[in-house]
Amino acid sequence: MRTVAIGELSDYESGVPRQLRLEDRVLVVIRIEDDVYILDDRCSHEDFSLAEGDVNCDTLEIECARHGAMFRLKDGEPMSFPATRPVAHYDVRNFDGHLEVVLP
Ligand code: FES
Repeated sequence: MRTVAIGELSDYESGVPRQLRLEDRVLVVIRIEDDVYILDDRCSHEDFSLAEGDVNCDTLEIECARHGAMFRLKDGEPMSFPATRPVAHYDVRNFDGHLEVVLP
């Protein structure tokens, strides 16, 4: 396990998913106020970028723009069909606004 710096909290707009390419991974970063969530940027239903979808800041879920599956931000669990498998999620550390993602 290791951590990789991914910039500042202020680099990410709250409620707007953003794709992040990191080494051989494609991730999606979702900031909601002072909290940051990171998932693999690939829907588990079909190969589609979750960064294209909308974030529900109340339920803390992201919607796949292709067929509408919802995924929970905190752990990548699918909350609605057609997705039935989770999306990988990554822990994030926030040191006074300096962000790091924990990679396995
Ligand atoms: S590709 Fe995401 S719900 Fe179908």
